[in-house]
Amino acid sequence: MLRNQVQLLSKIATNDGHGEKSPYFDGWKAYDSDPYHPKENPQGVIQMGLAENQLSFDLVQEWVRNNPKSSICTTEGADDFKDIALYQDYHGLPQFRNAVARFMEKVRGNRVRFDPDRIVMSGGATGAQETLSFCLADPGDAFLVPTPYYPGNDRDLTWRTGVKLVPVVCESSNKFKITREALESAYKKAQESNIKVKGLLLNNPSNPLGTVLDRETLTDSLNFITEKNIHLICDEIYSATVFSEPRFISIAEIIQENENCNPDLIHIIYSLSKDLGFPGFRVGILYSYNDAVVNCARKMSSFGLVSTQTQHLIASMLSDDVFVDKFISESAKKLAIRHAVMSQGLAQVGIGSLESNSGLFCWMDLRKLLKEQTFEAEMELWHMIIYEVKLNISPGASFHCSEPGWYRVCFANMDDETMRVALRRIHKFVMQKKGVERKQCRRNKLEISLSFRRLDGTHKMSPHHSPMNSPLVRART
Ligand SMILES: Cc1ncc(COP(=O)(O)O)c(C=O)c1O
Repeated sequence: MLRNQVQLLSKIATNDGHGEKSPYFDGWKAYDSDPYHPKENPQGVIQMGLAENQLSFDLVQEWVRNNPKSSICTTEGADDFKDIALYQDYHGLPQFRNAVARFMEKVRGNRVRFDPDRIVMSGGATGAQETLSFCLADPGDAFLVPTPYYPGNDRDLTWRTGVKLVPVVCESSNKFKITREALESAYKKAQESNIKVKGLLLNNPSNPLGTVLDRETLTDSLNFITEKNIHLICDEIYSATVFSEPRFISIAEIIQENENCNPDLIHIIYSLSKDLGFPGFRVGILYSYNDAVVNCARKMSSFGLVSTQTQHLIASMLSDDVFVDKFISESAKKLAIRHAVMSQGLAQVGIGSLESNSGLFCWMDLRKLLKEQTFEAEMELWHMIIYEVKLNISPGASFHCSEPGWYRVCFANMDDETMRVALRRIHKFVMQKKGVERKQCRRNKLEISLSFRRLDGTHKMSPHHSPMNSPLVRART
């Protein structure tokens, strides 16, 4: 059967480039087969592996109710139905590109200008990344990507394009900062393997770290790509999720300040999936400062246009300055509160997380709970958390983290009560685990003293029975 398939289908159809076999997706499957519901399935798996921003839908729904003309499926908007339903120009509706450009400027504190004619639409950031990968690199070429990074990059930039990703190893000792040494080392490794490096992909703010890149790192990265004459792709899809200082600095600001850089090498990936919380609308944006890339990507965009119905609605929503200003500030406040609940909830039981100020997740440090500092131990702990504590969190290995023991926990895709249940489960789990460790520690000490006595020949040992096969058997809500 498999052999036939390999013969009949293409290499792309039969390889594992989609990356579905990673634990990141396994967690989703575990959730799908046993989803938590407060009444119908209170012992089910809570989804904490999905970076969705559900906290501000009240504002959006209020706007939709107050603006029936913006939808073509209302009495007030039905007159526009025909125009919207017919074939569209692949440049996109001018009012949509204008509104998105203005929104991107607002999110960046109006410090930069975006030209609507450089906005290319795509099916989410996913489609934008792939389109850009097709434009910048040939099969076998590579992009450098600092670790830990969003697992979808492995699919989006590489699967159908044949492009490779080369990790730039970042470490917890300096809060996963991207250093010049790490960039050079990754570049050198690629060269030694005869891989042509075509660019560097930065994700700012970072998924999974929830941190923003500082001016120094952005400038260093810009200098690095300028020296090597390679591209710089900045995935800025979490830019409006920054909820506290330091503020977000877009690469658009940095190039404005650096006259010597070559704008032809700079490209921004954007989407409304995180900042507005609309991943279902598949609004992705490729913004390139390179004319040839804009032209080619626009032609390619025929494969992943945003439906005109969505463009029509978004154009209207994002042109409403009062709504946009309110949304941006309210959303940030709500995220700040959630983040505090999550990080403080973890801290109460001695669990640390990387200090962060953006994103829809915490980068949780469970190194102390690992049996040993290995990726096998990380997976073992993850299995306990998903199948016994029933929380779908994502292990660091799926983000190519170089050190075991880090996990991403999403906090903005659930209501307050579910959040409380999740935290209660974490508390119970950690307390039990600590209890076991204390008992184990006491037992080890006892065993040492007993074995010393045994050496003396004065005592007989009874066979030891482990009190705990799994510390999590009762770790339910
Ligand atoms: C860093 C990053 N880039 C791109 C994407 C894909 O976003 P979209 O839903 O717009 O395709 C995600 C989604 O989680 C992401 O976290």
